[in-house]
Amino acid sequence: MTESLPRNGMKGSIVLFGPPGAGKGTQAARIVDLTSKPQVSTGDMLRAALSEGSKLGIEAKSFMEAGELVPDEVIIGLISERLKMDDAKNGVLFDGFPRTIAQAEELAKIEEVSLVISIEVPDDSIVRRIVGRRMDPETGEIFHIDFKPAPESISDRLIQRKDDNEETVRSRLNAYHQQTKPLSDWYSKLSEKTNLRVISVDGRGSIDEVAESINLELEVF
Ligand code: AP5
Repeated sequence: MTESLPRNGMKGSIVLFGPPGAGKGTQAARIVDLTSKPQVSTGDMLRAALSEGSKLGIEAKSFMEAGELVPDEVIIGLISERLKMDDAKNGVLFDGFPRTIAQAEELAKIEEVSLVISIEVPDDSIVRRIVGRRMDPETGEIFHIDFKPAPESISDRLIQRKDDNEETVRSRLNAYHQQTKPLSDWYSKLSEKTNLRVISVDGRGSIDEVAESINLELEVF
């Protein structure tokens, strides 16, 4: 595998884009090490709000459990607050945001996005990836029963997300195709008239192979 190179000089934020289960969270952990930009995952923020039982969590719960997108204004409010934090001043790594053109338009008003990394995975691989996902609640590390088995010593404490069942995955894929996929054209058009760079990575390989492709793209950035 290519040696990690610090890309601390990279200006602006990075958007990690792709369907549910494409491997955004898995690859985000590695890109954070490469770029030193903090990961900002709207999914993780919403799940934290849900487990705290906050007003935001209560508002988001039914949408998340149904595999639908949480309303734009809720998400935009969440991101605006997050970007005011100190660690966000040199840009962040967005994971799972923006997910609609309205979210991308609002983001463009408050933050410079310099790179979009699109992880491409066909629908037929997604269900198996998501249904087999497990998470370590202590470290947040993501595992997979077949593709990335957890060590035996922690297998008892692994959890499965409530929305990681076959039925909800179908709704999430539907939301992706209807509301999120059009963003890839939106960003491509934007890149023709600005300094934004958009790269596509084949997400069908192993976790290490996908990381290697992203790493190579980041080297020429
Ligand atoms: P969110 O948490 O963002 O979920 P998602 O986009 O559906 O993405 P996932 O977390 O399911 O997948 P991932 O791409 O991170 O894949 P992972 O690396 O885990 O959102 C959840 C919900 O919150 C949404 O449905 C919505 O309701 C709401 N929400 C969040 N953001 C929102 C927004 N901006 N606007 C509106 N609503 C919002 O990998 C998946 C599995 O595959 C793992 O087990 C992993 O080990 C395995 N794997 C990863 N890569 C590979 C590989 N290359 N080969 C084999 N297995 C692999």
